[in-house]
Amino acid sequence: MVIGGGGREHAICRALARSPQRPELLCAPGNAGIAGDARIVETPLDDARALLEACLAERVDLVVVGPEAPLVDGLVDLLEANGIPAFGPTAAAAQLEGSKRFAKEAMAQAGVPTAAWEAVTTPADGLAAIDRLGSLGGAARTRGPYPVVLKADGLAAGKGVVIAADEAEARAALDMLLVDHRFDTTSVVVEECLDGVELSLLALCDGVRAIPMAPARDFKRIFDGDRGPNTGGMGSFSPVDGFDAGRAQALADEFHQPILDLMARRGTPFRGVLYAGLMLTADGPRLLELNVRFGDPETQAVLPRLRTDLLDLLSRAARPGGLEDAVLDWSPDHAVTVVLASAGYPDAPRSGDQIDGLDAVAADVEVNHAGVR
Ligand code: AMP
Ligand code: GLY
Repeated sequence: MVIGGGGREHAICRALARSPQRPELLCAPGNAGIAGDARIVETPLDDARALLEACLAERVDLVVVGPEAPLVDGLVDLLEANGIPAFGPTAAAAQLEGSKRFAKEAMAQAGVPTAAWEAVTTPADGLAAIDRLGSLGGAARTRGPYPVVLKADGLAAGKGVVIAADEAEARAALDMLLVDHRFDTTSVVVEECLDGVELSLLALCDGVRAIPMAPARDFKRIFDGDRGPNTGGMGSFSPVDGFDAGRAQALADEFHQPILDLMARRGTPFRGVLYAGLMLTADGPRLLELNVRFGDPETQAVLPRLRTDLLDLLSRAARPGGLEDAVLDWSPDHAVTVVLASAGYPDAPRSGDQIDGLDAVAADVEVNHAGVR
């Protein structure tokens, strides 16, 4: 049973459906597009008890959790406590995405390169921290503290990150986050703004080892030329020039594996997808963020290239140490994901528009549906 109802979950269902094990696939809550590839179970995403009951009633052998919110809320803990194998981190391990501050502390402890940062709880402390970042020195700092990145500590569906160009914008953002509590957060991570191109490197993890998937790149701003607001992602592609399997493995050794080792030492081993959002800077790659799930829309470009049985990989990753000797085989083909969103996305998307023309789509194009009826 795949949990979720977005384009990512549709791509996961399709990849699982290609398994030679010919699984019976369920998806909760899915959507009308996913219904073409999996049987829909109409259980809401935020009702963990009902999801557990559905899994027990359907005698589900493996649950694959798509989105971060149920992971952070402990869905995997609940399923496993009831004997249902699940692919995804426990609530304790999902804090790597659930709290930016937790993630930055883990990066520091694991010794992985990241942007300079401080966590603050008041706007005044935030402005002082920005000044301190500005006096760090180094080539990147000759321009002073701005732009600076301000991040709400908790989950904010991709909307809790502000890149402030000057002090006025920083004040407004700190007030929005720490006084108006727009994202139910009590602390903010103030972070050095890094220049470069981004790379999304997802790794399958079994608590012990991190096995990198094919690198991808996603594009977060809407409109041509990156002129619109930030979104969850408007498109992606894989592979990425210059990042072959050897380079991906070197990055996983530098970024994912030390985090995995740290989580294991703490007694909260990480199983599931560990997604490193990297910035490729002039000084080398830096870790911008960790996510604890498949990326969306990276997954829609990555999984169609996977030739290895995804069901076997995810079943093995659900067991501690189960990925030993796992080898991922990728098609050399290139995959590009383009998101077609409703008018008004991301601020005020219009719903109710009809989608047609799907029967005219070329044979080598996959249509993944997100949140459609
Ligand atoms: P996050 O919520 O941490 O994933 O951040 C969302 C996006 O904000 C990232 O994918 C980057 O595009 C951008 N971003 C985050 N942190 C930084 C940073 N330190 N410097 C530059 N851009 C950043
Ligand atoms: N594509 C960005 C994310 O999944 O967080």
